[in-house]
Amino acid sequence: MLLGVNIDHVATLRNARGENDPSVFEAAQICINAGANGITTHLREDRRHIKDDDVFKIKNNLDCKLNLEMAVTDEMQEIALKLLPHSCCIVPEKRQEVTTEGGLDVYSKKDKIKNFIAPLLDKGIEVSLFIDPEEKQIEASNYTGAKFIELHTGSYSRAFGSVNEEVEFQKLYNSAILAQTYGITVNAGHGLNYKNVHRMHEIKNLHELNIGHSIISRAIFTGLDNAVKEMLKLI
Ligand code: PXP
Repeated sequence: MLLGVNIDHVATLRNARGENDPSVFEAAQICINAGANGITTHLREDRRHIKDDDVFKIKNNLDCKLNLEMAVTDEMQEIALKLLPHSCCIVPEKRQEVTTEGGLDVYSKKDKIKNFIAPLLDKGIEVSLFIDPEEKQIEASNYTGAKFIELHTGSYSRAFGSVNEEVEFQKLYNSAILAQTYGITVNAGHGLNYKNVHRMHEIKNLHELNIGHSIISRAIFTGLDNAVKEMLKLI
């Protein structure tokens, strides 16, 4: 299993003072040097954390897999086609949310999403759809031509250690199997931490985990290098 580290929170901290510390680029370098397989950033419409310069600097100066999380907007499509990241993860986005709440509703907008991702696929960008672990979302994702999905692990993460854990885990497990029967590669992420991540091993052929909050939080106490290495050991 591969690890993509989401470094959005480094940008949140930097933006708190409106200056340049801590450096998002340096954080990306440390994660890659610690063994992470890629860097994930969410360029939000309101630029509340990661900014355009951050993603271009990482893409142009760091030899790593860059995964751009982005909403279904013309502006983001244009940026992605200029940036040409290794992959784009298409996410829903609401202005008022604290973080991405729920998966992308591919089922209700399958033609719109199919048309939206077509130019990205034409440019050789890997496109992943961030979806809830539901059969109808997986079938719709297959319809769009996306070869990757990222299963939203938020409900599993919140249920971890409670009576609902197994139900939420089974949704992920079954969804991964269904997607793989369509030839879709399955990633997962959201809310994963040092306590709940181990069960991702039980899901067959999971390709990559995208983890941000828990790693950046741990980094405050142990340093980013150690936080990434500890997570890598667990996954
Ligand atoms: N994957 C996606 C698509 C996300 O939107 C996020 C949060 O930005 C993550 C993974 C990482 O979630 P967390 O910060 O909870 O690890």
